[in-house]
Amino acid sequence: MSELPTYKDPAASIDERITDLIQRMTLPEKVGQMLQLDARENITGLIADFHVGSILHTSPEDMILSAKLVAETRLQIPLLTADDCIHGHSFWPGATIFPTQLSMASSWDSDLIERVARVTAVEVSATGLHWTFSPVLCIARDLRWGRVGETFGEDPFLIGEMGVAMVRGYQGAGLDDETAILACAKHYVGYSETQGGRDATEADLSPRKLRSWFLPPFERAAREGCRTFMLGYQAIDGVPITMNKWALNDVLKNEWGFTGTLITDWDNVGRMVWEQQIQPDHASAATAAVLAGNDLVMTTPGFFEGAQEAISRGMITEAHIDAAVTRILRLKFELGLFENPRLPDAVRQAVVIGSPEHSDLNLEVARRSLVLLQNDGTLPISPSTTGAKKIAVVGPNAHDQHAQLGDWAGASGQVDWMPDGHPRHLTQTVFDGLKLIAPSDWEVTYNQGADIAILTPDPEGETFADGQPRPPIAAPAPVDADMIAEAVAAANEADYVVAVVGDMIALIGEGRSTATLELFGAQNALLDALAATGKPMIVVLISSKPQILPESALNAAAIINAFNPGMRGGTAIAEMIFGEIEPSGRLPITFARHAGQQPIYYNQLRGQHGHRYADLTQDPMFAFGEGLSYSHVEYSNLVITKTELTRADTIDAQITLTNTGSRPSLETVQIYFSDLVTSITWADKELKGYEQVLVGPGETKVIDLKLPVADCTIVDADSNRIVELGEFALLVGRSSRNRDLQRALFTVTS
Ligand code: NOJ
Repeated sequence: MSELPTYKDPAASIDERITDLIQRMTLPEKVGQMLQLDARENITGLIADFHVGSILHTSPEDMILSAKLVAETRLQIPLLTADDCIHGHSFWPGATIFPTQLSMASSWDSDLIERVARVTAVEVSATGLHWTFSPVLCIARDLRWGRVGETFGEDPFLIGEMGVAMVRGYQGAGLDDETAILACAKHYVGYSETQGGRDATEADLSPRKLRSWFLPPFERAAREGCRTFMLGYQAIDGVPITMNKWALNDVLKNEWGFTGTLITDWDNVGRMVWEQQIQPDHASAATAAVLAGNDLVMTTPGFFEGAQEAISRGMITEAHIDAAVTRILRLKFELGLFENPRLPDAVRQAVVIGSPEHSDLNLEVARRSLVLLQNDGTLPISPSTTGAKKIAVVGPNAHDQHAQLGDWAGASGQVDWMPDGHPRHLTQTVFDGLKLIAPSDWEVTYNQGADIAILTPDPEGETFADGQPRPPIAAPAPVDADMIAEAVAAANEADYVVAVVGDMIALIGEGRSTATLELFGAQNALLDALAATGKPMIVVLISSKPQILPESALNAAAIINAFNPGMRGGTAIAEMIFGEIEPSGRLPITFARHAGQQPIYYNQLRGQHGHRYADLTQDPMFAFGEGLSYSHVEYSNLVITKTELTRADTIDAQITLTNTGSRPSLETVQIYFSDLVTSITWADKELKGYEQVLVGPGETKVIDLKLPVADCTIVDADSNRIVELGEFALLVGRSSRNRDLQRALFTVTS
């Protein structure tokens, strides 16, 4: 009887198993282990010829085939399988697609987001995937960037809260739990600091700026035990992050103690050759990536020959490769993949994918993610007092499942096995939702009214140099007088108009930033025409990111912001319109009045001359933290118990909330601090905490607030995060706007 090799022996320690396996592996097998290749290519070749350690974008059929192919290999090293399940299992037909990260962040509810990630992990793990490329911890800056909708918004603290919640949800009770999947904090670090919103530009950041705002959410994820980190595409000060030893080693591994696994972004290693043109060939690029401490190399097939050539030319040694392979194998052993490769499980899938419980949670999070931005009292509509009425539902996003689900969801373009996206009946659009929720004797009509964009192929060619599809060019769709006339006719017949506008897949995502932020195509003309009917108009925004709204929308009876609210979004919106739920979302990101106001995030640095452009205010349209309820809650009497504090103390404060309206309100009591004199320029205020409090109609509540003085930090000129002594203000209120904040002073002494 042949003896079980040590690496296959579950009784041996992980270290022993890794040592045994590595000494059995050939150099090509080791280099292949570092590769994550695109499973939409020839999967047989990836496994037989490249000996890949990991695959992504694997269709349900190929997931089963890949396991068979691995069983036929010499060492039978299980694959790590990954995909972008960033708001639900994006590419599994019928999986639960939740609101996008930006939408969910509007709930400011980290427990809810942890539950969303847990449910996602339960669905994803049943399909043979071990790893999701989520959460995105980038800080949204210029709103023209195409990936704003993938973020949790603009504030490092809120991003950190939401991000660690997602990590907890994905990784569950630990990697040996078969419903756990690996989380991946991305895109490390500074990718979102675009120039002009253009995707993957050089990020103009210093190490001090990185420490001030960009690194903190990643530090929290690392300390939370997030097992993998993905690098971004950007270079900082001339150095692509893929070879930035300071960020990868000094900060992430040495300072924060990260012992997990790194993965590059898509062809980062190849891009150093063909795009950034800072490496002459793949051997040099592989050398730079390996020496900087990378582990898995995503979709650079040239790394396979390049790394082997680098060794033969003496640029790196096999020991460098062994170090990376050790980290990759450790992950596989910790997941227990050698004993249980966690293959697709049809029985579990039948129970969990898109289950009624998951759908209920989806509705709950969609409800909590809606932000009521404006209301002249038209909302909520009360059917009992108004009698049978008509609602004209109008707009290109009123009945479009793809716009509602957003990016990374079925037909969003990243995979080829779901051309029509998720089964249509699983998504309730706003039109569907209103038909469902409106009283049965009400009439609900639908007219599209406007197109958004006309797409034409890019004359530069169908693909980029790396073979990736080149997005089409989007031109604004012209105004179609007939479409508008039909919509206006319906509005004239109706008692209420619900106008659902926003963006579309072709205008968002990777490589698809926009130069403008105005509602695209014929949408403004539609809104103007609807407003001219004089009917009460409720504007609903279904878009990946904040849009610039025309006067006709800004003067509408009500505005509800949904971002991309997921499969149950339409029902949640209808429930809000009819007052079946209370609006409670708060903006995790600022809305501009004009694209020229970019960047407009709330925590800008002090020191600017004046606070307006000569030709335009700098005041945002809707500020970070804003959102209404159907009631009115007064904030008063902010009191700090003890105002002379040391760095070791905690600020104890109280604020009084009084609900003067007739409906309950879930308030998000936001806590900011302002350091009044700093040794370097710093943000005038920064969010450091918040409490969600339900205040009943007519009720007054005194809320206790606590904030450790140790959180009131700046990053000094030497890049140290410190609390500087002196005078501070505690700012508490309903939004980041000064007019919404109560202010109380305290002093920190040594
Ligand atoms: C590139 C994107 O930047 C990244 O976010 C994603 O995870 C990978 N492609 C894999 O799809």
